[in-house]
Amino acid sequence: MSNQAFPFPFTKDQYAYSNNSSILDPAWTVTVTEDYKKEIELKRELLQQNHSRCFRSLPISLESQWEVMRLVFTQLAEAYPSHFSFTQKGKECRFQNHLLNEEERFIFRDNTSINLEPLDLAGRHVQEDLILMGDRSDGLFLEAGQLCFPSNWSLTFVLGMEFKSIHHPVPDITDNGFIDKVERFISRIRPNTAWERKNWSITISEKLDTPLETYADWGRLRQSVTEENAGKMVHLRVEVQRLFRLPVNHDILFSIHTYLLSLEDIVMNEEWLTLFYLNIKTLDEDIADYKGISQYKKEILRYVEKTMAEKETMNG
Ligand code: HEM
Repeated sequence: MSNQAFPFPFTKDQYAYSNNSSILDPAWTVTVTEDYKKEIELKRELLQQNHSRCFRSLPISLESQWEVMRLVFTQLAEAYPSHFSFTQKGKECRFQNHLLNEEERFIFRDNTSINLEPLDLAGRHVQEDLILMGDRSDGLFLEAGQLCFPSNWSLTFVLGMEFKSIHHPVPDITDNGFIDKVERFISRIRPNTAWERKNWSITISEKLDTPLETYADWGRLRQSVTEENAGKMVHLRVEVQRLFRLPVNHDILFSIHTYLLSLEDIVMNEEWLTLFYLNIKTLDEDIADYKGISQYKKEILRYVEKTMAEKETMNG
């Protein structure tokens, strides 16, 4: 990931949970970056090896899954016409992925015309994880998802859960009715409209696939961070999340594009360096624990302080 394209998340000196969403125009739910081929390959490998961990669906989601697949293919072709094409004649659809030299042909809403469920098929052509939230009379429910790059959560665990219950592990999320307000905000999103927000965390190593199920493999790395290796090992993890209201079935597509940048790259940018330092230093203890940062917070602060001191000496 190049530094210029990295969606740096901090805008203020101190971090607090907020509904930092802004409306998008055009309302595209997916983005192709220079890491496209590498990440698609990894995604497909993970799906091949651990399908039930990376894809889950309830039968009720099938109609919206079809809507999502057509939407994603249409948006890819609109946003990147030299990389993708999509045509529909009657019910016959043809999607071409020129980057991978692949083609998908199917009859719209005919389940026998494809070998995978529609969301599973669509997700294999985009870097994003795709989550489908059914908008029912009593709330938003997670009804299907293709999730290869989760930040320490489990699709199996949340399948069928309501929005508020999904957020139960997040510290103080119900304070001042915060999560209720977020849910009301989502329920008012208008058809064909997309909103974007950023969430951030820290990952030790450059690992995109950090599901709860394999915590034992990647979580232990948190103990190995030192002031000396922090620059290379610690990565700021940013999720660009988009919410889109499906115009036909009125459900919500939630797409998550995950970006990683090493601490040694972050500190090259003076503004990022200062903002990162202030936000980590003043981070609420509960949030630091929840994000797993408490274990190596001192080490990363020392690394950043040392870098700041070096820069000061160089500047004069
Ligand atoms: C409808 C789509 C959404 C889904 C499916 C979703 C799902 C999740 C999940 C699975 C987690 C991790 C929970 C855990 O630790 O087990 C999470 C965390 C969180 N979510 Fe959402 N979420 C959605 C939308 C939003 C929106 C719109 C907000 C706006 C404020 C939000 C705020 C948060 C916050 C603050 C966290 C904690 C993140 C952290 O500290 O790293 N979520 N969400």
